[in-house]
Amino acid sequence: MEHIKNPFIYGTRVSGDAFCNREEEVEELLGDIRARQHVILFSQRRFGKTSLVWKVLEEARKEGIIPVHVDLYPISTLGEFIEEYAKAIARTLSTYEKATRLMKGLFSRLYLSMGVDPAGNPQWSVGFDRNREIETFDEAVSSVENYLKRKGKFGVVVFDEFQQITETNGEKIERRLRTAIQTHEHVCYLFVGSKKHMIHDLFSNPNRPFYRIGKIFPLGKIAAADLRGFIEKRFNEAKVDIDVNAIEVIVETTECHPFYTQYLCHVLYDIMESRHIRADDVPKAIGFLLSRESTAYMNTWDLLTNRQRQALVALSETVPGESPFRTEMLRRFNMSQPAVMIRALKSLVDKDIVDKEDGRYGIIDLFFKRWIRTFISHSQPF
Ligand SMILES: Nc1ncnc2c1ncn2[C@@H]1O[C@H](COP(=O)(O)OP(=O)(O)OP(=O)(O)O)[C@@H](O)[C@H]1O
Ligand SMILES: [Mg+2]
Repeated sequence: MEHIKNPFIYGTRVSGDAFCNREEEVEELLGDIRARQHVILFSQRRFGKTSLVWKVLEEARKEGIIPVHVDLYPISTLGEFIEEYAKAIARTLSTYEKATRLMKGLFSRLYLSMGVDPAGNPQWSVGFDRNREIETFDEAVSSVENYLKRKGKFGVVVFDEFQQITETNGEKIERRLRTAIQTHEHVCYLFVGSKKHMIHDLFSNPNRPFYRIGKIFPLGKIAAADLRGFIEKRFNEAKVDIDVNAIEVIVETTECHPFYTQYLCHVLYDIMESRHIRADDVPKAIGFLLSRESTAYMNTWDLLTNRQRQALVALSETVPGESPFRTEMLRRFNMSQPAVMIRALKSLVDKDIVDKEDGRYGIIDLFFKRWIRTFISHSQPF
């Protein structure tokens, strides 16, 4: 078969043709930025927050709005927060002006120098007095506002994986950041992160500094119709025909979750035996995907308590409209009352394995759920 690169990408930010729709979300977020409305964008893991935000920043840039994207994923200390923020600022603003002059005008406590990585991409390194972290933090936080004010421009700063801020100096830093942000008139802030932490820990607790700082924006899945069109187009572009009912089986399996859809399509493309995919091919791809993930799933499983496993089995066998606490399940697992299962479910929520939405519990990883149902549920005693 002719070799064409797999058109389905999973695990990293997607852009260009690999990015499906989200037109309404892009428009809404752009509108918020134009209106200088701070936004808290959150979803479950891998719903496409980062990809969406980059798309929005690309559009914002075309309108003359200066975008700074700070990835806080790798940080666990205040020093690292400062480094990542300063690097993000340098990466952006150095495209507008000569880097060295800019850095001198921007910072007095932070020293930034630019080198190149082995691939030839610019790489910034940051230095500052570690005994003066708080002052350096203040300087980094006010630098974007100061720069934009001087230039008479407007910008947007995205803190991606914002929940990591809780790893720094705790509330003291959050309070300082909030106080500074409130005085900024030339920057709009987008706080992006995972649902659980953003909502429960940071933004909906009246005692926390970021309470009500901006508009709450829950990111949903991609609409089924858009996703169907996307799947067909991506296969067709790679010279593969796919039957409509095969697409249907895919979106039903992945429940329109962007990451799992791309993952399943990627596997389907990898294992296809001809350039025409039929509905029958999808279960093969699901089986393949499950076997690829089985070691990771087994490792997760091994670390759970018996009650947690029972609760997962109950959830994996619960269809919409049913309760995992139904008598049949409680009896099966010798649970005297629902509270026993609720306790186990809560501990699984803490572990990011289970999610609770509108009062209903569900296993986050759809393929983990399927793996439990297929390989565990009826084969192991509890
Ligand atoms: N608009 C989209 N079109 C197509 N695929 C998408 C889209 N958004 C997300 N995906 C799929 O989901 C994966 C994760 O996307 P992304 O990293 O943007 O999500 P995220 O919500 O930022 O994830 P995390 O919670 O890990 O930060 C991508 O690799 C891609 O497979
Ligand atoms: Mg992300």
